[in-house]
Amino acid sequence: MTDFVADGPVAATAPGGVVPVVRRVRAEEWAEVRDVRLEMLRDPAAPMAFLDTYANAASQPDTYWQNRTTAAAAAQTVVQYVAEVPAGGRTGADAGTGTGGRTGSAEPPGRWVGSATGILEQPGSEDFEGQPVEVRQVHVVGVWLHPDHRGRGVIQRMIDAVVAWGVERGVERARLYVHADNARAQGAYRKAGFVPSGNTFIGSTGRELEMVRALR
Ligand SMILES: CC(C)(COP(=O)(O)OP(=O)(O)OC[C@H]1O[C@@H](n2cnc3c(N)ncnc32)[C@H](O)[C@@H]1OP(=O)(O)O)[C@@H](O)C(=O)NCCC(=O)NCCS
Repeated sequence: MTDFVADGPVAATAPGGVVPVVRRVRAEEWAEVRDVRLEMLRDPAAPMAFLDTYANAASQPDTYWQNRTTAAAAAQTVVQYVAEVPAGGRTGADAGTGTGGRTGSAEPPGRWVGSATGILEQPGSEDFEGQPVEVRQVHVVGVWLHPDHRGRGVIQRMIDAVVAWGVERGVERARLYVHADNARAQGAYRKAGFVPSGNTFIGSTGRELEMVRALR
């Protein structure tokens, strides 16, 4: 397992001078997983960014979030990384030594300001949009960053963490779908090493572009 702490330069304009730590969710953090999901589903970009709606997510019982979080923390076929502003305003560089931010349950919880999820996909299957899977790959989904933390490389660190999780599981590439009108997300993904594959399709939220990052 690899966790990531903030190890890039501390942006001078980061809110409060704080750089979020990027780390995996833990099984007991279902309430935080729910809260960050509801926050991202309220983002103005949500209708073109996510397949779920705030109303649907808000109606789910606690068991839904508990099961989802347990699966993401077990890291067999799905993983979720979050960006966390540590309690007390420590910088990411202060928050850990490379083993993943908060390491003890005695530490107070920080504030989650971003999320990115990876799904392990096997060749011969179909993904959640009904698109064929041709190689063993990690599919990056549910990418969101709080507006206060955008433009500082945090999302690229989160995506790198998801991709590294896939690499540990022998994937040949990473892929993701991005709405044709979501220019900012496309720009962010290019900076994370993704290029358009040329594949497009009409998905649940409109015209989607496939972007890929070769890993071998
Ligand atoms: C998508 C998201 C995670 C990207 O994180 P971010 O920190 O904003 O991304 P970055 O600033 O690193 O990269 C965006 C790039 O696109 C550029 N960009 C911004 N708006 C743009 C636009 N309208 N057209 C073209 N490029 C644009 C930015 O300038 C930046 O490139 P630069 O650093 O070379 O200037 C974040 O904006 C977000 O959470 N958006 C709402 C949810 C969402 O759309 N999720 C993606 C679902 S597929």
